[in-house]
Amino acid sequence: MADEHAAATNEAGERRGLPNSARDLLSRVTLIIASNRGPVEFHLEPDGSFSTRRGTGGVVTAISAVSRFTDAVWVAAAMTDGDRLRARLAEERGEAVIQPDDTDFRVRFVVSDPDAYDGYYNQISNPLLWFLQHYLWDTPRQPDIDHNIWHAWNSGYVTVNRQFADEILAAVEASAQPPVVMLQDYHLYLVAGYLREARPDLVLQHFVHIPWPDPDYWRLLPEAFRRAICHSMLANDIVGFQTPRHARSFIYTCEATLDDVDIDYRRREIHYRGRTTYVRSYPISIDVDAVRRVAASEDALRHEEHLKSFFNEYTILRVDRAEPSKNIVRGFHAYDRFLEQHPEFIGRVNFLAFLVPSRLEVAEYVDYLDDINTIVGRIKTKYANMAERDGVAWEPIHLFIGDDYPRALAAMKHYDVLLVNAIFDGMNLVAKEGALLNRRDGVLILSETAGAYQQLGEHALWVSPADVESTAHAIYQALTMPAEERARRARALRQLVVEQDILAWIYSQLEDLAAINGTLVKA
Ligand code: G6P
Repeated sequence: MADEHAAATNEAGERRGLPNSARDLLSRVTLIIASNRGPVEFHLEPDGSFSTRRGTGGVVTAISAVSRFTDAVWVAAAMTDGDRLRARLAEERGEAVIQPDDTDFRVRFVVSDPDAYDGYYNQISNPLLWFLQHYLWDTPRQPDIDHNIWHAWNSGYVTVNRQFADEILAAVEASAQPPVVMLQDYHLYLVAGYLREARPDLVLQHFVHIPWPDPDYWRLLPEAFRRAICHSMLANDIVGFQTPRHARSFIYTCEATLDDVDIDYRRREIHYRGRTTYVRSYPISIDVDAVRRVAASEDALRHEEHLKSFFNEYTILRVDRAEPSKNIVRGFHAYDRFLEQHPEFIGRVNFLAFLVPSRLEVAEYVDYLDDINTIVGRIKTKYANMAERDGVAWEPIHLFIGDDYPRALAAMKHYDVLLVNAIFDGMNLVAKEGALLNRRDGVLILSETAGAYQQLGEHALWVSPADVESTAHAIYQALTMPAEERARRARALRQLVVEQDILAWIYSQLEDLAAINGTLVKA
C-alpha cells in the first residue's frame, strides 16, 4: 500500500515538475488537511441518493490543487444537512473515510451539535475573528464581548476545535504513513494545541489565509481568548501567512500576549516551552490552468456572449463576495465622484459589479447588502436620463447578484478597470484572476492593504482604501492612461501571476515541511 502510494505520488510529481524535496515528502507521508469548509458539499436527492457540489471559496480552490500530487485526507465540518446525513451513513457502514465521486480527497466530517456550530461559526469565527482580523470594527460601539460571546467561545469555538482535533487524531491513527497535518485558517486556531498534547511527535503546520492585525488591536479580545490562540498556534512547527507583514504581526502578538516566548526576529523563529515555531509567508495564488479552463468553458463563453450588451466604451468591473471587508460601498462612492468630476464619461462607462451574497446568518452582512443596494439605487437615480445608449437610457451601474464563477471569469476578459479596493484582505485572488484573463490591457486598481499588493502593487494603481477622492482619481487615471502603458502593466501582471501560481504556494510549503520533517527548516 505504502509502495503503491509512493509510486503514484512520484509519477504525479514528475509529471507536474514538483521539486525533489517536496516529491520525496509526499511519497513518505500522508497529508491530513483540515479546514472548516471541505472540498465538497453533499445534498440528499429525492430518490435517496447523494449528489455532491464543490465547496466554494479560495481555501477550497487552493487546497484542491494539492490533490494533483497526493491522495490526502481532508477533515472538514459537516455544514449541510446532506453532509450530516452522509457522515451518519458512513458511520453506520463503518466507512472510516468518505470518498466523494468527483474529488481525489478522502473526507472525514466533523459533525457538531447545531448550537455549538452556530457559536463557533456564526458568532466567533465570522463576526468576531473575521472582523478583528480585517480591522472592521467601529470600536466605540463594537465589539461587545458579552456573556453570549463568552458562551459561544467556551461552548462553541472551543468545543468544535476540540472535535476537529479528535477527528484529526483518528485520521492520524488510521494513516499508513507518517502524517503531516496542515490546518487552515481562523476557524481552527485551537486545534494545534490539542493535537500537540496528544501527539508531541506530529508535524503540524497552520496557514492563516486572512490578515493578522497588530497586537494592540488583538487587545480588544479578552486576554483568555488571545492567550489560548497564541498558545495553540505555537504548538505548530510552522505558521504560515500571506505576507511578511502579517507574519511579523503574528510574532509581535505572541510576544505581547505570552510571557515565556523567546523570539529570534532574524530567523523568524519563536521558542516557546521547549519547542520552536517557524513563522513564514507563502503568498497564495490561483490555479492558472484551472482558471483558464473554466474561462474557456462553454458555460463561460455563453455568458460572455450575453454580457456583451453590458459592456460600454469603458467597463469598470468588480467581483467580490458581498462582504464589508471588500469596501464595495466606497467603491461606488468613488465612481460617483469620478462621474461628477468628469461628466464627459457619462454614458460612456459602465460599472459591472458581480457580488456573491455571503454569510447571511450574520447581521452585519445583511446590513451591508442593504447598504450596497441603497448606494446603487441612489447613483442610478442621480444619473437617470442623463444619457442614452443604443436608444435606451444609460445605466451607470449593473449589479449581478449570485454565485456564478464562469460568468465572473467571462466578465474579467473585458474590463478596462478592475477595482479591488478592499479595506483589508489576506490576498485577493480576484486581482490575480483578472490579471490572467483580461484581454483589453485593463488596469488594476488595488488597495495597498490587500495582500496581493505585495506582489502586484508595482504594476497596479494603488489606493488607500478609505480615500474615496484618490480612488475616483485612480479611475480617471486608468481610463485615460496611454495604451502602451496599459499594455506594459497588464503584461507584467499577467507574467507575475503565471510564474507564481498555486503550485509555487504549495511547493514552498512542502519544501519547508520537508526540511523540518528531517532536519531543520531552512532559515
Ligand atoms: C474567504 C477567505 C478564507 C475563508 C473563507 C471562509 O474565502 O478568504 O480565508 O476561509 O472565506 O468562507 P466560508 O464561506 O467558508 O465561511
